[in-house]
Amino acid sequence: MSSQPKMHKPRSQTEMGTKQMAHSGHIKITVMRYRPAQDDKPWPETFDIAWTYDMSILDALGVIKDDLRPELAYRWSCRMEVCGSCGMVINGVPKLACSTFVRDYVPQNGGTGEIVIGAMDNFPIEKDLIVDTQPFIEKLESVSPYIISKNPRALSDKEYLQTPKQLAKYKKYTMCINCMLCYQACPQVGLNADFLGPAASALAHRYNLDSRDDGAKIRFKMLNEEDGIWPCTFVGYCSEVCPKHVDPAGAIQQAKAQGVGYWAMDLFSKDSQ
Ligand code: SF4
Ligand code: FES
Repeated sequence: MSSQPKMHKPRSQTEMGTKQMAHSGHIKITVMRYRPAQDDKPWPETFDIAWTYDMSILDALGVIKDDLRPELAYRWSCRMEVCGSCGMVINGVPKLACSTFVRDYVPQNGGTGEIVIGAMDNFPIEKDLIVDTQPFIEKLESVSPYIISKNPRALSDKEYLQTPKQLAKYKKYTMCINCMLCYQACPQVGLNADFLGPAASALAHRYNLDSRDDGAKIRFKMLNEEDGIWPCTFVGYCSEVCPKHVDPAGAIQQAKAQGVGYWAMDLFSKDSQ
């Protein structure tokens, strides 16, 4: 999986062929609406929106909310791929609305001319594009996501020291913004909501790789459970959609390799009792 940051740059004239690139116009945006008190299931509502070159999908939702449907519900905060709260499904692909641009869906720019926005329905939908994050948070908490040390240092001992090489071992896995896109992408999560899933597994692996931590044995008890890391079939789509290049699929495969050792140790200690 690539670890290079993805840049959102305008396509060049050569990439676009001889066609003129569109910088503004009108486009139809369909939003899947769901109001729990009234609706059995989500339903589509289409809006005609005037777009400009720098308009993100989040901006477009803002236009709909400000001018047309003040009750439309969706989450956002930072507008810059940091808070992780604007995850949704755009034309079937899990994406952050703040870093996805309307211009890329316009036919003159190589798009289909259609934008359909829905909630991440691998989670229970609460209203419109808002989903219940509690199951995800519980999974993160379940992997003991903190340093567990055999020799905890007193404050007077000052900080734990670590070399750049030790940091590099796990740094990639610290970049997660908890956007849940990987859970929406994961076919196993779709089949079994109890599966620990990509981000929580990557988080456990992040601490297991940390030179200051001695908690791997504790975490592997959880990772080795039926709904732990083993249901992952390495489809890898979770890593493809991850906006921060965390590569949760890679983390799970590495954790599986380590897990075999812990599983064997466990078995051996049970047999010798
Ligand atoms: S691993 Fe990537 S896709 Fe999954 S929650 Fe973290 S940042 Fe989002
Ligand atoms: S609004 Fe914060 S990640 Fe999109």
